[in-house]
Amino acid sequence: MTAVLEAALSLNSPFPSHELVQIVRGRRSGLPITVAVHSTALGPAAGGCRIAHYPGPAAAVADALRLAAAMTAKNALADLEHGGGKTVVALPTAARPDGAERTALLHDIGDVIESLGGRYLTGPDVGSGPADMSVIGERTTRVCCRPVEDGGSGDSSLHTARGTLAALGAVAEEVFGSPDLAGRTVAVIGLGAVGAHVARLLHRAGARLVVTDIDPAARALAGELGAAWADPDDALATEADILVPAALGGVLTTRTVPLLRCAAVAGPANNQLDEPATAALLAARGILWAPDVVVSAGGVIHATGVELRRETEERLTGRLQGIGTTLREVFRAARTQRCTPADAAAELAARRVRGRHG
Ligand code: PHE
Repeated sequence: MTAVLEAALSLNSPFPSHELVQIVRGRRSGLPITVAVHSTALGPAAGGCRIAHYPGPAAAVADALRLAAAMTAKNALADLEHGGGKTVVALPTAARPDGAERTALLHDIGDVIESLGGRYLTGPDVGSGPADMSVIGERTTRVCCRPVEDGGSGDSSLHTARGTLAALGAVAEEVFGSPDLAGRTVAVIGLGAVGAHVARLLHRAGARLVVTDIDPAARALAGELGAAWADPDDALATEADILVPAALGGVLTTRTVPLLRCAAVAGPANNQLDEPATAALLAARGILWAPDVVVSAGGVIHATGVELRRETEERLTGRLQGIGTTLREVFRAARTQRCTPADAAAELAARRVRGRHG
């Protein structure tokens, strides 16, 4: 346990460590629920609720710490008046709770969030969706993305995908001199809620698609889009202009970076690097990596914009396009300061957090 937590807490982060970490065993579900509030310097922490199978509770706590810190950077870089936080529930097996068991868990999560008195608000993430947000909302008001018919902004995954497309345009411009994605070969890894939307938008933009998912049922979407199917085990090695990680994190490691055959990696999966030093490995191979904290902000931008700031769709579209602008700024800073885009993004985020408080 200590080693995992020390690794998570000694993140090579420009921010101080977490403000608060709450680990509670759910009264009804008996499951360990971790809420990590990394920073509230810019406003209440915002970040989704991940319900997933972990090898053990310590791994889940470590993941919550890492994901919460990433949300601080994501929200700051997206110009949101929110800090970073995350909820992680460690399921003991791959089986997902449903029915009364699921309701019990969601009520437990709602109680923990409510006990934080507005320091943190949640939304969907891997393993949770809008309907779950309504159930959490029976115990706390600090929840985004309930279905539209329940008064929320609904599924945020399309908006995360729209932001990802804006980022891919900036990446194409940086690497190939034009933001046009038509005719580019793009490999999308993971066709979950966000990945499927990304693949559809890329198809519409005229990209040549290679896709994969651990769920073979996703092949139907590949067929529909005329996309080539890659084996999930060696999809990272697909020859492509841009590789788009759209599933779980930790895909870029000392083992996988040497296998890559792409000019750039840019996708909405959170925490793609296993550790910060991997950014230098990518740079050494001449592969442009777009920091996931910039690429993946569309969901939280849209949800908080609709529900908390009452922004118009027009304004929100502008903000999602702004992801491309921010990424261009990050690439420019990396070029002039001769650092990796990861370092440039971390520095820009830290400056924004300090700018308000410091
Ligand atoms: N899961 C989203 C992310 O990782 C977080 C989110 C929070 C989405 C609140 C919508 C609303 O960015």
